Amino acid sequence: MAEPRPRVWLARPLFEDITARLDGHFDVVRTPVEDRYPPAAVAGHLREIDGALVTLSEKIGAEEIAGAARLRAIANVAVGYDNLDLPALTAAGVLVTNTPDVLTETTADFGFALLMATARRITEAERWLREGRWDRWSFDRLLGADLHGSTLGILGMGRIGQGIARRAGGFDMRVLYHNRSRLPAETESACKARYVGFAELLAQADHLMLVLPYTAQTHHVIDAAALAKMKPTATLVNIARGGIVDEPALIDALAHGRLAAAGLDVYEGEPAVRPELLALRNVVLTPHIASASPATRRAMVALAVDNLIAALGCGPDAGRPSA
Ligand code: DGY
Repeated sequence: MAEPRPRVWLARPLFEDITARLDGHFDVVRTPVEDRYPPAAVAGHLREIDGALVTLSEKIGAEEIAGAARLRAIANVAVGYDNLDLPALTAAGVLVTNTPDVLTETTADFGFALLMATARRITEAERWLREGRWDRWSFDRLLGADLHGSTLGILGMGRIGQGIARRAGGFDMRVLYHNRSRLPAETESACKARYVGFAELLAQADHLMLVLPYTAQTHHVIDAAALAKMKPTATLVNIARGGIVDEPALIDALAHGRLAAAGLDVYEGEPAVRPELLALRNVVLTPHIASASPATRRAMVALAVDNLIAALGCGPDAGRPSA
C-alpha cells in the first residue's frame, strides 16, 4: 500500500501558481484568508500536520505546537524568524527554514529609499504641500541632511547590510560598520566599508542603518544610552525589527532634538504603531514593506516551497504523477 502523503498547512493564500507545487507532494490544507490567527487557531491548524508554510504573521512557539505531535518542518516566508520560537521548535524536533538571499537587493533598495526620504524630509515636505501651505519658494524651508560626503553607519553587516554599503558607495558616502564578527578583508574592500566598534559607529554616523537580526542579544541595542552617543543631527533608519530599538527612548530623543530624524519600517508592537510616533514631524513611517516587490515576494514563496519539500524529505520528483 502506498505511504500516505504528508499533510501540510498553507497558512495563507500566497501566489497560487507557485504554492500549487505543494500539491504535487503533499495533501495541502488551505485556510481561508484571515488577517491574523490567534494562538489557539494556529495551534488548531497545526494538529495532524507534518509541515507548515507560514508568514511573519504566524507566531509559533511552545503553546502553538503543544498538540502538534506530527509537526516536522516549518517553512517561514521571510529571512527573519523572530515570529518562531526557535528553542521551543528545536526542542520539539521541528526544522525551521527561512528565505535568505532572494530579498537582499529589494530590501537594500528600500533601506536606501527610506534613508533618503528621512534625511531629505520627503514625506514631511509632501504632507506640507498637500496641506496647501506652500505660498512661495523659500530659501531656508525644509532643509535636510546630505547623503553625499556624509558617514553612513551600518549596524549588522550581513547580505542586506552589504547591499546597503554598495549603494552608499554610489552616493559618495563613507561607510563604517559594526557586526558580531568582522568581515573578511576582500568583502570589506568590495563594500568599501570599515569595521569600527559599536560606540564609534554611534558617534561617527551621520546616518545609522539598522540591518541586524532580532534576538535576545539585539533586543533594545538602540536604547537611551546608545542614542545619547549619536550626533543630534543624525538620522536613524530601521529596516530590521522593531524590538532592536527602545521606542520610548527613540521618541524622547526625536521629540527633544537629540536626534534629527528616523525612518522606520518596523515597530516593537507592529502592526500597532505608538501614537507618539505618529504625532512626530521628523519620522518617516512605513508598514514593514522593505521586501515588498512582486518579483521578490514571488521568489520568497518559491524558495519557501522548495524548503518545505526538501525539509519533509521529498525529492524534486516525489509525488509527481507518473507519466
Ligand atoms: C523578512 O523577510 O524578514 C522581512 O522582514 C519581510 O520580508
